[in-house]
Amino acid sequence: MFSPQSFVSEAVKKIKKEVKGRSVIAVSGGIDSTVAAKIVSDALGSDVLAIYVDTGLMRTGEEKDVQNTLTGLAVNHKIVREENLFLERLKGVSDPESKRKIIGKTFIDVFEREAAAFGAEYLVQGTIAPDWIESGGGLRDTIKSHHNVGGLPEKVNLKIIEPLRDLYKDEVRKIAEFYQIPHMRQPFPGPGLAVRIIGEVTKDKVELLKKATSILETNVSAMEDIPWQYFVVLLADRTTGVHGDRRVYGFTVAIRCVGSLDGMTANFSFIPLDLLAKISREITNGIPEISRVVYDITDKPPATIEWE
Ligand code: XMP
Repeated sequence: MFSPQSFVSEAVKKIKKEVKGRSVIAVSGGIDSTVAAKIVSDALGSDVLAIYVDTGLMRTGEEKDVQNTLTGLAVNHKIVREENLFLERLKGVSDPESKRKIIGKTFIDVFEREAAAFGAEYLVQGTIAPDWIESGGGLRDTIKSHHNVGGLPEKVNLKIIEPLRDLYKDEVRKIAEFYQIPHMRQPFPGPGLAVRIIGEVTKDKVELLKKATSILETNVSAMEDIPWQYFVVLLADRTTGVHGDRRVYGFTVAIRCVGSLDGMTANFSFIPLDLLAKISREITNGIPEISRVVYDITDKPPATIEWE
């Protein structure tokens, strides 16, 4: 039986013994990086800096949540705002893997700068077992280049600490409970809303998607049985709609809600139709640029969870 208490005390002991110098960790607001940051912070105190890069591609309220959580856990942290840099580099790019690579590279540039400014010698990563298995670390081929695993270690000239490397999600969750980390939001991809905007990413599209995502999250998080992951995708093709007595050529969004244990396989969720109808109306009434809402009824496989 996995004991979070003994795992943490062993990990803290080991890090204290082996790590001599300052460390940095990139935190995303997700459970893995938060737990990793807390463990290393317990071992090294103010010699650790948790860095949150605001890419401008995160959900509404994300940065505040991260700040509150890290403050509550007494983890030394810094928020770095770089929305303009990310949008500038994404201009004109519509290929999904290119988007991921640009975001990964920009993230590394910002992070390297901050790590050097802190005088870090070590890099802490919240990598868990399924991350490296799915990124080609095991027998499987690379499915998507997950940016939080693909770039940092080779590029950043720092020694790596991966306290969660052999753990699965349920074990990390037990550690989060042990630390009384407040309820975390659902899993969210490192490249953020960029992989939920099909085609080119612009500031306007990000704003639309943030609003639609908030509407969906508010409604779905009030359900009794909350899906494992639930989000909105902004499609590239416009479709015809009617506003008053005018025909408009508006955006279409797809709602994706899935049940899963670890993201490796997933089933689409059976959301009650009356709730879907309410969400659809709130989105189209609240965001006039969106004129059509569809629901994705595909499992993984054959589809992936994200659309890009
Ligand atoms: P897919 O779309 O591959 O997603 O079925 C499986 C899980 O991974 C998340 N995901 C990502 N997470 N960087 C991340 O940190 C990425 O590039 C990325 N792509 C997908 C996805 O949200 C789902 O939970």
